[in-house]
Amino acid sequence: MPLVSMRQLLDEAAKGGYGVGAFNVNDMEQIQAIMMAAKETKSPVIVQASRGARQFAEDLYLFRLIQAAAELNPEIPIAMHQDHGNSFETCKSAIELGYTSVMMDGSLQADGKTPSSFEENVEVTRKVVDYAHERGVTVEGEIGVLGGVEDGHGAGGSGLDHITDPDQAVEFAERTGVDALAIAIGTSHGAYKFTKKPDGSVLKMDVLIAIHKRLPNTHLVMHGSSSVPKDLQDIVNKYGGNLKETWGVPVEEIQLGIRNGVRKVNVDTDNRLAITGAIRKVLWETPEKFDPRDYMKPAREAMKKVVAQRMVEFGQAGHGGDYAPIDIKEIAKGYANGTLTTQPLVAAK
Ligand code: 13P
Repeated sequence: MPLVSMRQLLDEAAKGGYGVGAFNVNDMEQIQAIMMAAKETKSPVIVQASRGARQFAEDLYLFRLIQAAAELNPEIPIAMHQDHGNSFETCKSAIELGYTSVMMDGSLQADGKTPSSFEENVEVTRKVVDYAHERGVTVEGEIGVLGGVEDGHGAGGSGLDHITDPDQAVEFAERTGVDALAIAIGTSHGAYKFTKKPDGSVLKMDVLIAIHKRLPNTHLVMHGSSSVPKDLQDIVNKYGGNLKETWGVPVEEIQLGIRNGVRKVNVDTDNRLAITGAIRKVLWETPEKFDPRDYMKPAREAMKKVVAQRMVEFGQAGHGGDYAPIDIKEIAKGYANGTLTTQPLVAAK
């Protein structure tokens, strides 16, 4: 199966009332882990690469690996997504490479650190939407600013610093024509999101619900959605790691989000923890080992386990074979003739 438009994948998720995990990748083993999990759970897949990942792996290596995943798993729809594009040029280069979806994170300026104005965000996002839609490529925008920093991208600080204003979310969606909208509801990238199990004072699910009521046909995106499970923290620490006690986003809160318009759920940190814990365990218990396969294989398996669990919890499991891919050129025609607007192909449940 060729790479699929993320828009199609999210429209189908809206039809089925489920969410789709978007898992970050940097290397072959992570891509394999996701595909193993998707195969096992019969799930559609969103694979995403940050600017840091594209730099680390070199664009072409990473993209060819995704193409291999698509070729080896023709029964699974896969969307390839640029995570946190910082500029028009970054998004354009991903599209030229063959990504079927891009995020233009205009909530920050091109330095990836300084919050931008609403008008700057609208302007750059609209420019990306025009370019991408002409080519059938999906666009995710962001309004409000996430906390923390990931791969050098982020404003830092608390997730509560720039919570999305529902009025602005409506205006932003209307003026940009984005296919999916990331909102800030108190989450941050990375392991250190909350100092205790989050309640409504720090995780603003009420804001998400208010935005969904105003924008019932816009696919919402939850960034910073790792749950940072205690058992994964414990494995890292048991084998020589030094993580401070921390809390992530409870899966039941993500499921509440999915019942209220969330279609894409970004997860990176949980997989990083699973991989690191598995590698540490092998090296701690058998320090004489030096063949990377001895620790990369359990690391891949540990990530696969987390991804498969999330695929079941987000509801995408079992939906990988529901639909045939629409050619990206047909998607482009849909944008051009107005049949594909910010209204999903099918109404959200
Ligand atoms: P986590 O750090 O919570 O995994 O979030 C990842 C993310 O939002 C990538 O854009």
